[in-house]
Amino acid sequence: MKRVAILISGGGSNMVALAESMVGDHPARPVLVLSNDPGAGGLEKARARGIPTAAVDHRPFGKDRAAFEAALQAELAKAAPDILCLAGFMRILTPGFVAHWEGRMLNIHPSLLPKYRGLNTHARAIEAGDAQAGCSVHEVTAELDGGPVLGQARVPILPGDTAETLAARVLEMEHRLYPAVLRRYAADDKTPVVLDGANS
Ligand code: GAR
Repeated sequence: MKRVAILISGGGSNMVALAESMVGDHPARPVLVLSNDPGAGGLEKARARGIPTAAVDHRPFGKDRAAFEAALQAELAKAAPDILCLAGFMRILTPGFVAHWEGRMLNIHPSLLPKYRGLNTHARAIEAGDAQAGCSVHEVTAELDGGPVLGQARVPILPGDTAETLAARVLEMEHRLYPAVLRRYAADDKTPVVLDGANS
């Protein structure tokens, strides 16, 4: 059974989707939900599901990312995860941290990578006049939002969409895509998952 730590910064809806998927014959179980924000709403949701939680507030560390990450690593070491899932974790990780977990760390990003790395993905897709948007799960490498893609889900961009309405449509697909990819990944299967929100 693989041990999974989920890193969050906010409401943790993807964390909930992942945690609730890891039951029965699933090859993994959640062992820690870790946040850089002690006030992250997802921490309470994890506790309510009986998942151990920890928070390492990034703010007292200022610009000292190495010290912040050493504190993260200390929490992770206690939980001894096999796999890290970044789920709305909004801190950029240093190459040293990424190298330590490379091949064992996934991220979900709200765009059809390689399009729109970084922030404000939905506004950028609408602004560009794209017909479709979506989300991607990828392995984390030193290149921001640039690691190998293990799954994507598409949704249409509809007339009148705002960044908010599009984000909500994409988020529904995130909740299906991330568990589907993790299930395969935990079984050492890197076959990409493809979901189409227009046909499902
Ligand atoms: C999700 O839409 C996720 O794709 C995005 O943050 C949101 C977190 O929501 N992640 C990024 O933008 C990473 N760069 P959640 O806390 O409800 O899962």
